[in-house]
Amino acid sequence: MRIDILTVVPNLLDSPFSHSILKRAQEKGLVEIHIHNLRDYTTTKHKSVDDYAFGGGAGMVMMIEPVVRCIEHLQSERTYDEIIFTSPDGELLDQPLANKYSLKKNLILLCGHYKGIDERIRQHFITKEISIGNYVLSGGELAAAVFVDAIVRLLPGVLNDETSALSDSFQDNLLAPPVYTRPAEFRDLKVPDILLSGNTPEVDKWRHEMALKRTKERRPDLLK
Ligand code: ADE
Repeated sequence: MRIDILTVVPNLLDSPFSHSILKRAQEKGLVEIHIHNLRDYTTTKHKSVDDYAFGGGAGMVMMIEPVVRCIEHLQSERTYDEIIFTSPDGELLDQPLANKYSLKKNLILLCGHYKGIDERIRQHFITKEISIGNYVLSGGELAAAVFVDAIVRLLPGVLNDETSALSDSFQDNLLAPPVYTRPAEFRDLKVPDILLSGNTPEVDKWRHEMALKRTKERRPDLLK
């Protein structure tokens, strides 16, 4: 998989992909993540990427030209499955949506900033808008990082134990059961006996019951 991220604040994306699972996924060659600074695609003297909104009003608007020049540069080298804009107006990201996008080969992610982006970009170039929640962020970069993390961890070979993505919360519409590690006893806090029993079928049954209980208590909407 290859992901190209277009942003006016590339530094915001320095860290999320440089550690832990996402770093290893890139080192193993399972995903390529390229960050593009839209300022490198301007043709104006002052390298502007934003301008005042026609019709007036507060807030700057991201200009169409740098965005389209960057998209066209990338498209001249390969075809893309989707050009995604991270926006609170988009489809809400959930596990089925992450599963779907983890199967794509090449994706472009455009991060919005300022008051918004020129509507012509959305109408003529963006093929999908994705929101990470019903709240407004200062820009699309953190949303893009969340989206990339959610899809890359699903790629075969990214997680050491491949079953662990399958047993995530939400993969079966259930929250994950509680987990424990050593010591078996900390002060008077004990790990449930069943987990120390070595009886795998009983442990699996307990975990399923706990997942169901937790989902009923915290997210009954998932069981409908
Ligand atoms: N940009 C600003 N807010 C956002 C959100 N909630 N999801 C995706 N992109 C955004």
